Amino acid sequence: MTHASYRVHVDPDKCQGHNRCYSVSPELFDLDDLGMSSEVGAGLVPADLIGRARLAVANCPEQAISLTEATEATEAAEAVPARAEAQP
Ligand code: F3S
Repeated sequence: MTHASYRVHVDPDKCQGHNRCYSVSPELFDLDDLGMSSEVGAGLVPADLIGRARLAVANCPEQAISLTEATEATEAAEAVPARAEAQP
């Protein structure tokens, strides 16, 4: 059984540094030295922050933030190290 979860992503080509996303949820967004935003880590949204993520999407004047559904299978695949351990 897969468990649905969500992921945020900031489109760097659209972000203009309004910082509303960071105001709404500093747990989900990071700002660089110029005030441009990016998602924290892989952008995975903890269940208790879904509402904040939706608020950030709704409040970005540039519509730079996307919220997409991710499955455990996707997360597991991305968690696999790029280089596999050598088998004996
Ligand atoms: Fe950028 Fe929108 Fe946040 S413009 S800083 S993603 S509110």
